[in-house]
Amino acid sequence: MSEEETKVEAATEEVPVDEVQAEEEASAEAEEAQVDEAQAEAAAEDADEIAIPKKKKKKWPIVVGVIVVVLIAAGAGFWVWHEQPSFCNAICHVPMDPYNATYDAQAGEPGVDKWGNDVTNSSAMMVVVHKDAGEDCLACHVPSIGEQISEGMNWVTGNYLNPLEERDLDELTEARGIEGEEFCLNSTCHDITRDDLIEATADLKRNPHVPQHGEVDCNQCHKAHRASINYCSQCHSDAPIPDGWLTSAQASKLPNKA
Ligand code: HEC
Ligand code: HEC
Ligand code: HEC
Repeated sequence: MSEEETKVEAATEEVPVDEVQAEEEASAEAEEAQVDEAQAEAAAEDADEIAIPKKKKKKWPIVVGVIVVVLIAAGAGFWVWHEQPSFCNAICHVPMDPYNATYDAQAGEPGVDKWGNDVTNSSAMMVVVHKDAGEDCLACHVPSIGEQISEGMNWVTGNYLNPLEERDLDELTEARGIEGEEFCLNSTCHDITRDDLIEATADLKRNPHVPQHGEVDCNQCHKAHRASINYCSQCHSDAPIPDGWLTSAQASKLPNKA
């Protein structure tokens, strides 16, 4: 969803709050301890406004305010909203909007990746086919509290790159203490083995799941928020490139990258 759309939605759903009062408003809400879901969203918008760097406000009151609002809201339906993809970019338009945009792309249709490159078939972005299977962001990105608090702090203090650095599966599963490939191969997602995968793609030339030269991580090929790549095409020009996917050479020449 674009920033404008989000703002329009916010305006129709919530009481508009004067920007100047935003900071007092956030701490007042915290004291009242009556934050319901809609107010949480309003507070989120407030935080968005006051975090604009050029205003040069002191950051600590904001940090404390955000934490207090988040904690109170947690007890008041916050978690329901937290499950929605819209949560991810409600506050953090930068850097999250491009990720939500990949989620909103239509399977089988052209789309745009997280860096703004054209994707000829959005089904080549895993997030799209998983959305069609009824999954949201948190189905893949299983949230750990510690991770989310540090993400929130990094956002408030501006301690992140835009666009974000691409994460590998080991980084994405580190906080949960599981192996990288368990991001995909686990009992709630793909409850299968690598052998099952070999069978599933047995009809493909240069079966990509055969560890011919050693195991290759799933996301060396399957990309969530940009077109997937057949890693084997680095060396084998006959490796199959499914519709919308890229060869290694094409992927290395993408016009926009992090
Ligand atoms: C199919 C599982 C899946 C879903 C659903 C998913 N992601 Fe991801 N996400 C990944 C993987 C895998 C990566 C690692 C980078 C890659 O392989 O594309 C990633 C990386 C990220 C990153 C880290 C930066 C980067 O580019 O590596 C962010 C931020 C992110 N996703 C946000 C989201 C948001 C927001 C949603 C929902 C709108 C979402 N993701 C839905 C699998 C998923
Ligand atoms: C070397 C590249 C590569 C690697 C590594 C890889 N895959 Fe695949 N995978 C593919 C290709 C290519 C397809 C076929 C996609 C298509 O036809 O759209 C595929 C298809 C799949 C499918 C669909 C199978 C079906 O039933 O049609 C699943 C599920 C899958 N991969 C999961 C994984 C998981 C989990 C891992 C890591 C353990 C992994 N893949 C590693 C390239 C790879
Ligand atoms: C860095 C280059 C490189 C990559 C990447 C690579 N291969 Fe190979 N592959 C080779 C070379 C070189 C040979 C021939 C070596 C030999 O004969 O032992 C080979 C041989 C093979 C063979 C044996 C049959 C033949 O044609 O000789 C298969 C099957 C194969 N690769 C599949 C794959 C698959 C599947 C992937 C991706 C998961 C992959 N390769 C990735 C370089 C590569």
